[in-house]
Amino acid sequence: MARCSFCGRSAEEAGHLVSGPRPNVAICGECLELASQVAAEATDFIGGDLVLTGVGELVTNAPGGDDLLAVVRAAAVAIRRGRVTWVGPEADLPARYRELPGFDCEGRAVLPGFVDAHTHLVFAGERAAEFGRRLRGESYEQVLAAGGGIAATVAATRAAGPDDLLRTAMERAGRMLAAGTTTVEVKSGYGLEVATEVRLLEVALELGRRLPLDVVATFLGAHIVAAEYRSDREGYLRLIEEEMLPACAPLAAYCDVFCDRGAFTVDEARRVLSAAGRHRLRPRLHANQLGQTGGAELAAEVGAVSADHLDHLTAEQAELLRRAGCVAVLLPAASLSLRVPQAPGRLLWEAGVTVALATDCNPGTSYVESMQLVVALACLEMGLTPEEAIWSATRGGALALEDGAKGWVGIGAAGDLVVLDADSYLHVPYRPGANLAWRVIKDGDVVVG
Ligand code: NIG
Ligand code: FE
Repeated sequence: MARCSFCGRSAEEAGHLVSGPRPNVAICGECLELASQVAAEATDFIGGDLVLTGVGELVTNAPGGDDLLAVVRAAAVAIRRGRVTWVGPEADLPARYRELPGFDCEGRAVLPGFVDAHTHLVFAGERAAEFGRRLRGESYEQVLAAGGGIAATVAATRAAGPDDLLRTAMERAGRMLAAGTTTVEVKSGYGLEVATEVRLLEVALELGRRLPLDVVATFLGAHIVAAEYRSDREGYLRLIEEEMLPACAPLAAYCDVFCDRGAFTVDEARRVLSAAGRHRLRPRLHANQLGQTGGAELAAEVGAVSADHLDHLTAEQAELLRRAGCVAVLLPAASLSLRVPQAPGRLLWEAGVTVALATDCNPGTSYVESMQLVVALACLEMGLTPEEAIWSATRGGALALEDGAKGWVGIGAAGDLVVLDADSYLHVPYRPGANLAWRVIKDGDVVVG
């Protein structure tokens, strides 16, 4: 029987055990609290202490039960030093947690903070005029082929001062946080030259230092071939391999490639991802957004952490992704903006693929910052159930970023929560466009509201 490795109590005696970082190590809530106090004293990190009571509906996403969201009603949550140490019906809340600073949610619903696992948040300029042209009939691929689209943002980004990139990205990230996003993945990809790709990743990491928001950085030097290499694709690939990756890899956790029509072929993408692997960057892939271009198969072949977009996907390809353990990151706001059919979210769920939802926030195909809106689109346009959509925007996103502490509320989880100004998570898809985040909590501190 599993026992707390520190006090020796069983799961039954201690209420709940969390598995530790090594096999055969488990820890109960009380020992975790003690351990985090010791750790906080030994390091500078001190997360907040907080207790929420009067939670009408607490979405925990705890695995194992029949209820996907594992909702607890009339609940309380306690956070010590930034980590959840107690969750359950308020009636059972131990007296010592009642003394923590906190507030009564007065029946409101509480969710794990949203995890936005796919964004292109750092860029200069905007492309409203191009958006207008698309609404008048031009296609995204026509714009891209004519040297607009991504290339236009690359030109603006290269020309921007570092302060401008940081300021505009901070504004967007601040709005994301205000709408309940507590972790965000940020890709480079609007530099396409060594110095600017490095600068984009540095700005992304700086966002995480300046805002109460966790940032995961991804190198996307293979977004498109830089304009100056248009007639020398080989030269651009060599630039990525020989110069960009060595300079960018220390700043990023992942490498992504836009493997699609007008961007990179399967063979080119494979080459970039394998070079990235030599720099310890794990693979993700923009796959099957514009057509059936082999991206999904490549994602499965290289064991990509995620395959993103997937607007064009068959049941066989979904099965490949499932077998490869690849998370499907779906981006309904991008398909909405491009006015193309949505990715087959239902098919992926039914095939047993782990699904995440993300904004894809970028100036071309999805100038959307709100994960709440993405949840609404996933329900209304893609046919996910509200439960599937909420789970995918929280736990699914965390799994897409390989972060076991995010996207759920249970002992040991990050103290990242959104308190909705509504009594049920159902209001998120029900009221698209509203910002229902009443308070946002990051590492146990109230950071919004
Ligand atoms: O995820 N597909 C490629 N990249 C972005 C679009 C970037 C842009 O248009 O600026 C996307 O949709
Ligand atoms: Fe994207």
